[in-house]
Amino acid sequence: MRKTTLITGIAGFIGSRVAELLADRGERVIGVDNLNDAYDVSLKKARIERIKRPDIDIRICDILDYEKIDDIFRQERPARVCHLAAQAGVRHSLTNPLIYQRTNVEGTLNLLEISRKYMPENFVFASSSSVYGGNEKVPFSENDNVDKPISIYAATKKATELMAHVYSSLYGLNTTALRFFTVYGPWGRPDMACYKFSTLIMSGKPIELFNNGDMFRDFTYIDDIARGVVSSLKRPFGCEVFNLGNSRMERLADFVALIEENLGRKAEKLMLPMQPGDVPRTNSDIEKAKRMLDFNPQTNIEDGIRMFCDWFKTYHSDLF
Ligand SMILES: NC(=O)c1ccc[n+]([C@@H]2O[C@H](COP(=O)([O-])OP(=O)(O)OC[C@H]3O[C@@H](n4cnc5c(N)ncnc54)[C@H](O)[C@@H]3O)[C@@H](O)[C@H]2O)c1
Repeated sequence: MRKTTLITGIAGFIGSRVAELLADRGERVIGVDNLNDAYDVSLKKARIERIKRPDIDIRICDILDYEKIDDIFRQERPARVCHLAAQAGVRHSLTNPLIYQRTNVEGTLNLLEISRKYMPENFVFASSSSVYGGNEKVPFSENDNVDKPISIYAATKKATELMAHVYSSLYGLNTTALRFFTVYGPWGRPDMACYKFSTLIMSGKPIELFNNGDMFRDFTYIDDIARGVVSSLKRPFGCEVFNLGNSRMERLADFVALIEENLGRKAEKLMLPMQPGDVPRTNSDIEKAKRMLDFNPQTNIEDGIRMFCDWFKTYHSDLF
């Protein structure tokens, strides 16, 4: 029998791609999203339009609405839960911490509590590389201590991992936390470096490079992440945490040069000091995900940026 997966945050960057991948593999998807205006809602609607098909059923609904989410579980009995809805991003959490607590902590607790009633085979959810805080040791490994977050966003993600552990240990719910490392690619998030820089460059506005561009990120291409999520959904473990990254570190300044090359325009750069809450480098150790999830990222940064820019030129043809 075909299994149903419930995806929260289906109008989001990662959720929409995971939904598409599952449907491509002949699976049924129920998606929820509240289409909030954390960034341009028309982009979320366009993602929904793009993935529309009979196998993907999308409900506009808030994960904080316990009754509505409970109804969906009762009617649909999802075999797997893929919980991606969140207030995402470190910077906005500096100025708006309360919404992070509500969406990420309370929202996840709602889903865990409802999952306890219906006991899906697997509950997979998005954590983040930001839980590693200012970890000086690279690459970041799942065994490293993550008790010292440096943003509220990271603290809420760590809280979701702790709550999932409780539900696994008290009720035997299979939970898997996926710590994503800076995801980029077509249909990405406008607040993230790749998209933000491209928009600013094409609008003739300066881009801000923190720590004078001397920052390193483990940029991970969207399709690699989506394949990792799908693979994880199919592999229930009691309670696990995995890094999903590319496992290579790119210097921010080199990353900008690739965008410039693909867009055919030079950026005006503002070199600035380190931002509070930001970390100078992220780099994933993905040996555990390789071994247990068969995770195998295949997209190098050159190809990934090219594919992003090709999409950007079409979606934002008004800027060219
Ligand atoms: N993109 C990355 O680089 C990255 C890195 C680390 C972790 N993550 C995590 O991965 C997940 C997906 O990230 P994304 O980049 O696709 O973000 P996104 O903002 O594009 O997607 C999140 C979606 O959740 C929805 N949502 C938010 N609050 C909701 C609520 N209360 N009820 C229902 N829907 C709600 C939003 O409308 C949005 O469509 C998030 O949990 C994020 O924290 C992302």
